[in-house]
Amino acid sequence: SRSISLAVIPGDGIGPEVVAEGLKVLAAVLPQDVKLETKSYELGAKRWHETGETLTDAELARLKEHDAILLGAVGDPSVPSGVLERGLLLKLRFAFDHHVNLRPSKLFPGVKSPLAGEPEIDFIVVREGTEGPYVGNGGSLRTGTPHEVATEVSLNTAFGIERVVRDAYARAQARPRKKLTLVHKNNVLVYAGHLWKNVFDKVGEEFPEVSTDYLHVDAATIFFVTQPERFDVIVTDNLFGDILTDLAAAVTGGIGLAASGNINPSGDFPSMFEPVHGSAPDIAGQGKADPTATVLSVALLLRHLGYTDEAARIEAAVSVDLAGRGAAAVGHRGTAGIGDALAARVSG
Ligand code: NAD
Ligand code: IPM
Ligand code: MN
Repeated sequence: SRSISLAVIPGDGIGPEVVAEGLKVLAAVLPQDVKLETKSYELGAKRWHETGETLTDAELARLKEHDAILLGAVGDPSVPSGVLERGLLLKLRFAFDHHVNLRPSKLFPGVKSPLAGEPEIDFIVVREGTEGPYVGNGGSLRTGTPHEVATEVSLNTAFGIERVVRDAYARAQARPRKKLTLVHKNNVLVYAGHLWKNVFDKVGEEFPEVSTDYLHVDAATIFFVTQPERFDVIVTDNLFGDILTDLAAAVTGGIGLAASGNINPSGDFPSMFEPVHGSAPDIAGQGKADPTATVLSVALLLRHLGYTDEAARIEAAVSVDLAGRGAAAVGHRGTAGIGDALAARVSG
């Protein structure tokens, strides 16, 4: 019989609130014969305050044994910025070689976009997840003096770029429009930018059916707002992808709807699924967070594990729910009310 061993990292702020709803929907959608085993890992601000630990090697080893990881969000105003983001979230992405950070953006029917008219938005951003300016390749000299110097050097390898670019081509090839856009800034970041472009062009020879395009990241932000329909699949650097996917969320109905998967395509390590948003300290503990991004991340998780029908049922339930919401994003139902409604819809 089938089984899923799922690690759950609720994390900080609204993380536990939205993860609870994601798990509710997951339990509701799975057929009887699938055995779901979840194990919760108490990581985040509370743990750090109590022990000074972010993520131990022993925990990393235990996490590795699961089929997948569901994460809420990490980061808290009471913890110095970067401690949990780097020591927990990025540590997981790097340790488990999550080089494909998959971030789909779709404007669901009936959802209000802040953009004029009724734009057609349905693209995916394939964000590189293990390199770029995120690697911690930097330092500070003369720290705390008026002459302080800080560096944060972006790391780009032909190997790292090639594997994510090839993944993006394959995704473009599998979609009806078969279009792939590289986003970088090779007019200024000439070393990394040219490496990306050269690898992009070279790998493209293997995908003659995929039409390609290149945009500098600043221009890409214009088109996200003025012509989002021009995008199908986008491949980009870690930091550009971070920024672009918050913008993509904003134009498709808000950050509360944006899902992501940190994928290790080889299967050597568990992939990790999480909403694009953070811990939202401004609304934490109030039942105001939209759990939809987490629920859609559960759909990505299920599809990754081969539960295609279940993933589609979740997406269909979200689509119906969103179409009936009107102007209210979360409204009177609150976080748990939306989770209940989605759970009822996927099981019914
Ligand atoms: P954020 O995404 O937490 O919040 C930005 C804005 O979006 C806030 O106004 C928030 O209330 C709103 N928002 C976020 N999620 C929402 C939801 N589900 N429903 C409704 N509204 C929602 O970004 P931030 O404020 O820049 O960061 C807060 C903390 O989260 C920081 O510590 C940051 O480092 C961390 N962070 C973590 C992750 C992650 O764990 N993957 C991602 C981004 C930020
Ligand atoms: C995200 C977040 C993270 C990132 C931070 C919290 C490390 O913003 O998942 O988008 O920059 O990747
Ligand atoms: Mn982000």
